[in-house]
Amino acid sequence: MRPKSNHSRSGGGRHPETEHLTAPSVVPGTARAAFLTAFHRSFHRSFLTAFLAILLPAWHGSLARAAEPVKLGLVLPYSSVYATLGNDITKGLELALGEADNRVAGREFVVLKQDSQVNPKVGLQIATRFIRSDKVDFLIGPVASHVAMAMRKAAHDSKTFMIIPNAGADPLTREQCSPYIFRTSFSNWQPYYPMGSWMAGPEGLRRVSLLAPNYAAGKQALSAFKESFIPAGGQVVSEQYPDLKETDYQPYLSRLAQEDTQAVFVFFAGSSAVKFVLQYKQAGLDKRFPLYASGFLVESSVLQAQGEAALGIKTSMHWADTMDNPANRRFVESYRKKFGGEHPSIYAMQGYDTGKVLLQALRKTGGNTSDKAALRKALETAEIDSPRGPFRFSGSHNPIQNIYVLQVVKGGHLGVENRIIGTAAENLEDPGTGCKM
Ligand code: BEZ
Repeated sequence: MRPKSNHSRSGGGRHPETEHLTAPSVVPGTARAAFLTAFHRSFHRSFLTAFLAILLPAWHGSLARAAEPVKLGLVLPYSSVYATLGNDITKGLELALGEADNRVAGREFVVLKQDSQVNPKVGLQIATRFIRSDKVDFLIGPVASHVAMAMRKAAHDSKTFMIIPNAGADPLTREQCSPYIFRTSFSNWQPYYPMGSWMAGPEGLRRVSLLAPNYAAGKQALSAFKESFIPAGGQVVSEQYPDLKETDYQPYLSRLAQEDTQAVFVFFAGSSAVKFVLQYKQAGLDKRFPLYASGFLVESSVLQAQGEAALGIKTSMHWADTMDNPANRRFVESYRKKFGGEHPSIYAMQGYDTGKVLLQALRKTGGNTSDKAALRKALETAEIDSPRGPFRFSGSHNPIQNIYVLQVVKGGHLGVENRIIGTAAENLEDPGTGCKM
């Protein structure tokens, strides 16, 4: 005879299904059986109590976490010389997150934005506030190398993941690399090193004059160019470093006009790029010395303002809006649809990839941002079908990517466009020198 069940449906908060699975296994009739019945009941009761005591808070915790948003703190320039860059990165990121309905693994994204003003002190202040007061899960930014260097310690010391959607500061994926710092754009070395050999090789140039803004990115860019140009037989005629916020390049162009040079190689971006190209043309130097640069000089956000003054300029870059692959066609089309027909720039593409990498990593961790080791691994192993081609990180958290040679030719929606005319380097990985993690 089965004992009358004394299982209370309300007592102890036990789960009816659990009780149903355990009770029928007990057969009474002897003292031993009675003892065993009592033992089993008590064992099951305390086992269940312990089981639930452990699991319920975790379950509630994960529910609470599921409801908590993933906070992104954007430290980007929305003013000054790189304002367009900051705005375009933000739009690219918004496009990627929007494609996922602005949520991942049940958590919504909350995006906080602050203007870094291309100023290292301001960038650090914002990053510190985002980390300490807003408790962001990720810092996204910045655009400029010197701002990135200023923010590095705050991100690293607080173990806050910082995903850099532009700033190329070499040390951040070399000797000052960090388990918490990832870059979805490029290192400053990447577009310049292959261009030095390209200019000395296929372009057959021997004497070249160099110009770049006077700050970390400008110095690193020209140094990487020289690293391959000089050993290939090239000679640097002059190096000039105007202020980052310079608007009048006349004195620098006058000096170039006096030089016995064959070509000019520069790095300028944002509003500086527009001004430099227009003033170069106005000074008539385009007829004497062909202009070469990294792709930032004539990418799509500045090309409209430069128009035909940019014709013929050759640059090196890891993407062009005219790239003919399915991921790029999809990206360009969705961006134009979302932003009123506006064409995406290189910065928009990098913002988009930042969003894609984030989404993939967070899907892998089930939305968990507190297990830093798991999140780091998920980021490190991210592989996306980027508009620039297949994307993955190097061991020092910098993209491994092709560097193309582009030329501004007539065509496209603006009347001028960047066309790929060669590949300067395939699957180029920054040397990552001195990175220990
Ligand atoms: C930089 O500061 O790293 C940078 C800024 C604009 C374009 C490219 C690089």
